[in-house]
Amino acid sequence: MRLDKYLADLGLGTRSEVKQYIKKGKVMVNGSTCTTTDRKIDENNDLISFNGQILSYEKNRYYILNKPAGYVCANHDNLHKTVFELLKGENLKGLFTVGRLDIDTEGLLIITDDGALSHELLSPSKHVAKTYYASILGIADESHITACHKGIDIGDDDLTEPALLKILNTDQINNTSEIELTITEGRFHQVKRMFHALGMEVTYLKRISMGTLKLDSEIPLGSFRRLTSEEIEMLKNNK
Ligand code: URA
Repeated sequence: MRLDKYLADLGLGTRSEVKQYIKKGKVMVNGSTCTTTDRKIDENNDLISFNGQILSYEKNRYYILNKPAGYVCANHDNLHKTVFELLKGENLKGLFTVGRLDIDTEGLLIITDDGALSHELLSPSKHVAKTYYASILGIADESHITACHKGIDIGDDDLTEPALLKILNTDQINNTSEIELTITEGRFHQVKRMFHALGMEVTYLKRISMGTLKLDSEIPLGSFRRLTSEEIEMLKNNK
């Protein structure tokens, strides 16, 4: 693996930032300063240090992807493009998506090979919050905020768990609303089914956060980056 990619993968900076660090002599390989950005290293055996601190390569891999519509959350699909096709240049072996977004849903998707973290984030008993931004056909009001809080019958055995509905904007002329909904479960088509049960329809859906992780504007639609070690720790501790 190239030294600059290794450092960027560890979250030390963007590819061009870490190249600058290397050129400035901040990086050592096996005890000698290395100023060659495309130096090939063996991430499992070479000793790499940055600013005098020895780095250790992650055992697992963690990505955040800003999923565009038109891609399915599956490792293989005969009909549709998969989100893994967006992880260009990455080794896909062992990776899976943490939960799924519908083909027409956009936004934050975590991709990893860490089954334990995936379980932590998806297990209903952990109540990990997921926030969605949605455009709605219909006018959302106080009664819908109360209904989401109390739980909604979406045709399952149980009502939905308490959810937080925030109304961002309503447009009486076009009969539309913009909302944010925070849920702590991950039922099939949950957000769409909740609004359907309330007599409205979701026309656009985007996940903007999952647990402690937020989708920032620096990840354009269809792009991804590795999670930093701080982000991974925060996700693991759900704080
Ligand atoms: N709820 C939905 O209806 N669809 C998604 O993709 C995610 C949550």
